[in-house]
Amino acid sequence: MNLNFEGKSVVVTGSGSNIGRAIALAFARERANVTIAEIDEGQGKKVAAEAEQLGAKAQVVRTDVTRWSDVQAMVRLVEERFGRVDVLVNNVGWTRDALFMEKTRDEWEKEVQINLWGMINCTRAVLDGMIARKGGAIVSMGSDAGRIGEFREGVYGACKAGVIALSKSIAREVGKFGVRLNVVCPGMTMPANDEEIGGLSMWQAQENRAWMTEEMRARIAKAYPLRRVARPDDVTGAVLFLASDQAGFITGQTLSVSGGYTMI
Ligand SMILES: NC(=O)c1ccc[n+]([C@@H]2O[C@H](COP(=O)([O-])OP(=O)(O)OC[C@H]3O[C@@H](n4cnc5c(N)ncnc54)[C@H](O)[C@@H]3O)[C@@H](O)[C@H]2O)c1
Repeated sequence: MNLNFEGKSVVVTGSGSNIGRAIALAFARERANVTIAEIDEGQGKKVAAEAEQLGAKAQVVRTDVTRWSDVQAMVRLVEERFGRVDVLVNNVGWTRDALFMEKTRDEWEKEVQINLWGMINCTRAVLDGMIARKGGAIVSMGSDAGRIGEFREGVYGACKAGVIALSKSIAREVGKFGVRLNVVCPGMTMPANDEEIGGLSMWQAQENRAWMTEEMRARIAKAYPLRRVARPDDVTGAVLFLASDQAGFITGQTLSVSGGYTMI
C-alpha cells in the first residue's frame, strides 16, 4: 500500500517519548518531513537524530502545546521550513493513575490543559493553512478511557471523550475543504526502556511505573482478548493509515488499537 508520505510535512506533538516517538519514526521511514513538537527539547533532539538516520528530514521545535503563542510560533516555523502542514498528529497526553477522589484540583487542571487544550490549540493552529490549501489530515490520540469511562481515569477520560467529540464536530465543519479528522485510541502501551522516554513522560510517574513490572503486565494482558500489552509500534499503523491518502474517504472516526479491550 502506497501511503504517499514522501516529502509531506508531518507534525507529531510530544514525539520525544513512547507512542509519539514511534509515530515520528514511522513517518520518517516513509520519508516524510517530520517536525517533533516537544516541550522536552533534548529528548526531541534524540528522536530527530534517529529520524534523520532513517533518511527523513526532521526538526525539533520546542513547544508547550498548552500555550497558544508557542503553538502558533511552531506552526509558523514548520511552514517556513517545510512550506505547510499536511498532517498533524495530536499525540501529547498526560495522566497519573489514581482515583478521582484522590486527585487535587491542580492535577485535574493539568489533565485538562495537556489533554484537551493542547489538542484544541494545535488543531486550530493548523486549520487555516489546511483549509486554504483544501486538504490535510489530523489524527488525535484518544483513549479507551474516553469511550468507556475507565476506572481511575476520570478527568483524563473526560478529556479524551472531548478529543473524540471535538474531532467529530470539526470533521463535519471542515470536510467540505478536504480536511479529515480521526482519533486513535491505544490500549496500555509501555515504553520498552527508559531511553524511549523523556523526563516529562507520564511513564515517569511512580503510580504509572507500577504497571511496568512483569507481574502487572501479565495481569493487564488477561483483560485483553489478544492477551498482551501493546508496544508503541502497535499503534503506528493505524495512525499512518488514517493520516494517508488511503483513508481519503474516512473522517470523524474513532479506532481503538487495544487488543480488543473495547469493542464499540
Ligand atoms: N501509553 C498508553 O498506555 C496510552 C493509552 C491510551 C492513550 N494514550 C495516549 O497516547 C498519547 C501518547 O502517550 P504516551 O504514553 O506515549 O505519552 P508519554 O507521556 O510517554 O509522552 C508524552 C510526550 O509529550 C511531551 N509533553 C508533555 N507535555 C507537553 C506539552 N505541554 N507540550 C508538548 N509536549 C509535551 C513529553 O515530554 C513526552 O515526550 C497520549 O495522548 C496518551 O494520552 C496512551
